[in-house]
Amino acid sequence: MCNYHITSLLGYLLFGALVRLHAGTRLNLVCLTPLVSLLQTPMKKTKELIGEAGATFVNAFTVTPLCCPSRSSILTGRYPHNHEVRNNSLSGNCSSVQWQQGPEALAFPVYLSKQKYQTFFGGKYLNQYGRKDAGDVSHVPPGWDQWNALVGNSQYYNYTLSVNGKAEQHGDSYEKDYLTDLILNRSLSFLDDRSPQHPFFIMLAPPAPHSPWTAAPQYQKEFSNVQAPRDGSFDKPGKVLHFTLNQNALPLRWQALLSVDDMVEKLVKKLDSIKELNNTYIFYTSDNGYHTGQFSLPIDKRQLYEFDIRIPLLVRGPGIKPNQTIKAPVLNIDLAPTFLDISGVNLSTANMDGQSFLAQMAPSLRNGTVRPFFLVEYTGEGNPTKDPTCPKLGPGVSQCFPDCVCEDAFNNTYACVRTLDGKQDLQYCEFADSESFVEVYNLTSDPHQLENIVKKVDPAILQAMNQRLIKLQSCVGDSCRNIK
Ligand SMILES: *[C@@H]1O[C@H](CO)[C@@H](O)[C@H](O)[C@H]1NC(C)=O
Ligand SMILES: *[C@@H]1O[C@H](CO)[C@@H](O)[C@H](O)[C@H]1NC(C)=O
Ligand SMILES: *[C@@H]1O[C@H](CO)[C@@H](O)[C@H](O)[C@H]1NC(C)=O
Ligand SMILES: *[C@@H]1O[C@H](CO)[C@@H](O)[C@H](O)[C@H]1NC(C)=O
Ligand SMILES: *[C@@H]1O[C@H](CO)[C@@H](O)[C@H](O)[C@H]1NC(C)=O
Ligand SMILES: *[C@@H]1O[C@H](CO)[C@@H](O)[C@H](O)[C@H]1NC(C)=O
Ligand SMILES: *[C@@H]1O[C@H](CO)[C@@H](O)[C@H](O)[C@H]1NC(C)=O
Ligand SMILES: *[C@@H]1O[C@H](CO)[C@@H](O)[C@H](O)[C@H]1NC(C)=O
Ligand SMILES: *[C@@H]1O[C@H](CO)[C@@H](O)[C@H](O)[C@H]1NC(C)=O
Ligand SMILES: *[C@@H]1O[C@H](CO)[C@@H](O)[C@H](O)[C@H]1NC(C)=O
Repeated sequence: MCNYHITSLLGYLLFGALVRLHAGTRLNLVCLTPLVSLLQTPMKKTKELIGEAGATFVNAFTVTPLCCPSRSSILTGRYPHNHEVRNNSLSGNCSSVQWQQGPEALAFPVYLSKQKYQTFFGGKYLNQYGRKDAGDVSHVPPGWDQWNALVGNSQYYNYTLSVNGKAEQHGDSYEKDYLTDLILNRSLSFLDDRSPQHPFFIMLAPPAPHSPWTAAPQYQKEFSNVQAPRDGSFDKPGKVLHFTLNQNALPLRWQALLSVDDMVEKLVKKLDSIKELNNTYIFYTSDNGYHTGQFSLPIDKRQLYEFDIRIPLLVRGPGIKPNQTIKAPVLNIDLAPTFLDISGVNLSTANMDGQSFLAQMAPSLRNGTVRPFFLVEYTGEGNPTKDPTCPKLGPGVSQCFPDCVCEDAFNNTYACVRTLDGKQDLQYCEFADSESFVEVYNLTSDPHQLENIVKKVDPAILQAMNQRLIKLQSCVGDSCRNIK
């Protein structure tokens, strides 16, 4: 189980400050990446303090809708076929030794550290982080000066943190241990202790609103009347799935997000009080979307549909005009190049697949165009053996809770090419299953993806999309941005 995100606006927080955009100015970066959030409701302060003070990207996507591969893309600026993190298991490279020796050594904090950034990490890192067979808690990824990382997957209490390589056990006292508040408090101390000579980068990655959705005591009664959103695909049966829905999940997630909203407010206040707010870029995003009943799928991510691949992205900072809505599509692999761009790294030395979106949000600082086509790729997860609680199902499937309705399988492996501009909004996907299944959606006429138009669309369009997909699936660096 990984990070749960709802629909489009998520939060796995990253904060930072950027440097050296203008001679003589130092810019800081704050990146907030909480797991998910429907920004429109529970995150009022975040919307005001980041979105209305800066830019709201309405077409932000993850290049893979699963936590560990997506987080690995955020860290490296690479598509999964280049960082080679396939799933949430150690055997799929989630925080594995090969990951540590390869992609992690080239992740963005390494570059920021070379630019003399003081760096802080707090929260959930990668699902398998801290395992004994993968370096234990003593493995501190390069580039981080202050490291407060959760061992394993999401928890709010009773967790272990690696604090600069030493294990620190926590219990379940709200005042002492609630993880969202604890990482905020430590980031505030980091700001007090920083050297004013150099810029800083803070990444806060609260597990909220991932399950187990533990809210702070003062928020446990909120949102009792809220239901999962009934959008166009809600409760429309998909091909193989019957209707089940966990109505409880949404209010609980929203409750857990209220502490993230407080986190944003406290950080912004702190930056203001130390006179760094006008020098700091603040990013708010998440690692994947989430569904609650769409196509009658229970609760999860991992699918190619909008509700799982769209993520929230709000950014404020120098050169970004307040209250802008930006339609240009941006990807989670673009975060790392954007951080490096702001910090003054020559991007052609980093060979990342993504591209900086500084030009889209601050045209007074940079010129640049967006790429016309991008890739979303996913490797299905499965269990090699039969699940004893679901005796009717064979091996090869997974995420079959709570009712033996499976949301994933080894053959739920797919790759999609997407184009999204003023003229067209088209998604073309191929599955690696025994049928080589193809799904094509015209999002302009069918925003809820109710009709697969593969049999209706002009074959020349299918052929062109297939060719682009082949190129994107093996692209590296520049070639990922230059598909025609
Ligand atoms: C894990 O990553 C290494 C390189 O970092 C790669 O050689 C290996 O094939 C990857 N494993 C999987 C399952 O993709
Ligand atoms: C934390 O662990 C203690 C001891 O095992 C247990 O009693 C308590 O219920 C746990 N708290 C939470 C919130 O899981
Ligand atoms: C965080 O700091 C606040 C203010 O000092 C304090 O009330 C709270 O208990 C702290 N929480 C944690 C988990 O450290
Ligand atoms: C931020 O404000 C300070 C003090 O008013 C000023 O010196 C600095 O140039 C400002 N920075 C930016 C990026 O505008
Ligand atoms: C931002 O724009 C919205 C919609 O146009 C408007 O309602 C709101 O007042 C604006 N906020 C600010 C801070 O300007
Ligand atoms: C960035 O690096 C590339 C490759 O090393 C070099 O050709 C280019 O001149 C550099 N650009 C700047 C602005 O320094
Ligand atoms: C963007 O391009 C225009 C036209 O080529 C140029 O005048 C302007 O200075 C450029 N802006 C930046 C920030 O590079
Ligand atoms: C993760 O990927 C590895 C390598 O492809 C595979 O052996 C393993 O079964 C996958 N894990 C799951 C849960 O699918
Ligand atoms: C997908 O895998 C499942 C479980 O192994 C199998 O029952 C099903 O036939 C496969 N479907 C396709 C289209 O390959
Ligand atoms: C998608 O739908 C729009 C609006 O109906 C239409 O103009 C466009 O031609 C369609 N595109 C394709 C590829 O079918």
